[in-house]
Amino acid sequence: MKLDQVADDINVKGNKFVLIDLPYGRTALEPYMSRDTLDLHYGKHHAGYVDKLNDLIKGTEYESMSLKELIVASRDTDDAVFNNAGQNYNHIIFWQSMTPKYEDPSEKLLSKIDDSFGSIDEFKSKFVDAGIKRFGSGWVFLVVENSKMAWKTTPNGDNPVGDDVEVLAACDVWEHSYYLDYKNDRKKYLETWIDKLINYKFIESRFLES
Ligand code: FE2
Repeated sequence: MKLDQVADDINVKGNKFVLIDLPYGRTALEPYMSRDTLDLHYGKHHAGYVDKLNDLIKGTEYESMSLKELIVASRDTDDAVFNNAGQNYNHIIFWQSMTPKYEDPSEKLLSKIDDSFGSIDEFKSKFVDAGIKRFGSGWVFLVVENSKMAWKTTPNGDNPVGDDVEVLAACDVWEHSYYLDYKNDRKKYLETWIDKLINYKFIESRFLES
């Protein structure tokens, strides 16, 4: 198993992928995301994708690949591997895209946001629009494309890995991410996520690397 740029060694142990540690405690995101949601979402859903992925790739050519290589190799050819690998990658980014200690973006990041979206308000409203318009289960990714930031959405477990973009952040819009706390109000979840949970430090660290 190869180490992965996004997952580093925290995602791989021996010949298996492992569930990454949450970067905060299970109650740390309250009141915006509850312990019940994290218990279910991280402890059951994300853990389930990792276990399933390990079962699926055992003894196959996929065993020698990194997570990103697996996603690219299985896209369009092996739905089960692709979905579980994609969901593992997406959740690794998602947990780190949130913080219990919200801080406004730095001046440097803010100027990149202004350059890409026109203003921080436009950055936020484009995110909420993107998340609402993604029908059914899926993801909203903040990416860098042609040196500008943009919001992209994908269905189910898909992601922009393999596209000519850098992924800076991810927001899960599957119902399991918000239903316990927001019921069917995806808009309120998205507005809370972008105002209270988003981790600008994580985004900035990745932006500077890209
Ligand atoms: Fe999820």
